[in-house]
Amino acid sequence: MKTRAIAVMRNNDRGHYTVPTHGLYPFQWNWDSALSALGFAHFDEPRAWTEITTLFAHQWDDGMVPHIIFHQEDDGYYPGPDVWQTGRATPTSGITQPPVAGFAVRRIFERAKDSALAREKAKALLPKIHAWHQWFYTMRDPQKTGLVAIIHPWESGRDNAVDWDEAFARIPTDGVGPLNRRDTSHANPEHRPTDEQYKRYIWLVQRFRSLGWDNSKLHDASPFQVVDPGFNGILIRSCADLAMVATALGETEIATQSRALADRGLAALETLWSADHAQYLCWDRAIGTAIDSPSIGGLLASFAPIPPQRAATISTRINAIAETCAYVVPSHDPTHPAFDALRYWRGPVWLIVNFMIANGLQNAGQTGTSERVMQDCIRLIDESGFAEYYGPHDAEPCGGDQFTWTAAMVIEILNIQRAKAA
Ligand code: GLC
Repeated sequence: MKTRAIAVMRNNDRGHYTVPTHGLYPFQWNWDSALSALGFAHFDEPRAWTEITTLFAHQWDDGMVPHIIFHQEDDGYYPGPDVWQTGRATPTSGITQPPVAGFAVRRIFERAKDSALAREKAKALLPKIHAWHQWFYTMRDPQKTGLVAIIHPWESGRDNAVDWDEAFARIPTDGVGPLNRRDTSHANPEHRPTDEQYKRYIWLVQRFRSLGWDNSKLHDASPFQVVDPGFNGILIRSCADLAMVATALGETEIATQSRALADRGLAALETLWSADHAQYLCWDRAIGTAIDSPSIGGLLASFAPIPPQRAATISTRINAIAETCAYVVPSHDPTHPAFDALRYWRGPVWLIVNFMIANGLQNAGQTGTSERVMQDCIRLIDESGFAEYYGPHDAEPCGGDQFTWTAAMVIEILNIQRAKAA
């Protein structure tokens, strides 16, 4: 299985970055790259560092790291650079994605065989990742709540999650021309977001574009401002992990600042806990209400060093969900009316999210659930190969095929399982 996973990664390798998969996603994506680097690190450490270094070579001056980097022209994806118009030398999108690079860098750094190379690369990345984290707390938390908002569903990485439905219904669609969707010719339209959702995605892009992509304006100008516990959990974890790398490299100022960001975020995350749902929930900042949607975003927060009793409750909740489907962790609660088993982030299982949940639960001492989640990942691959995502009832492979980050997670998980067995 590992050999097959490496072949998938090599096939999608474009030298200094990887594409998520052929066809559907022909450029570099932000959190795909950071997570894929974990896979590379097991068989090609220099290549792992290159993946993340390339990503940060396209960081904006204000600190943002964009969600897509359009390294080469390819009309197989919409919306392309002509829609974003961010004015970058190498075109990029104008929004960001879950900041998992701090976590990835610590993991690759600490287990590196070539420690001289690791020190050199981590030292160069450290201030850049820190600047990105600071950018979040400046630009996406102007009221200093300790929690950052996303201003476009694509930033969450969970594009069409049920979580966004109500907030998204308030987004207009006027002025959006005909869509030129390409995703539906690469993948089954039944498994993809709807045209109505796409119009709103594009409306937001046009709104931000009209403000010249000036991040000091975008948060307040966006009618979509949602605080996602999963996203914040990833940011908190990355700040905490970056503090560890900074300490190891003698960069005490970055270490202290990163630790403080993580602590403040952790304290604020508590405000998103829902005792009724036994998990965290999103918060609609634009109208000041909790979003009553039991999605995987509220379980993914366990990637952060949350209080042990919260991790224990989330672990129990995942075991309860496991009674309702054959493979955990579905991206939405299967007993909820909006659950849609095969539609992208509204039900299917994604290996990257599973890996992060398993990792967080392991750290919190929830070993049994962590192992169950990882075992289900391996069962999915056995059944259905390296798909983009999977049906939680029958392992149906969905979306794109031969997926880079799916393969990277398999390499990670096989390694963890081997180390445990030894
Ligand atoms: C989809 C996913 C997003 C991912 C991208 C590339 O947009 O929702 O999380 O980064 O594809 O794989």
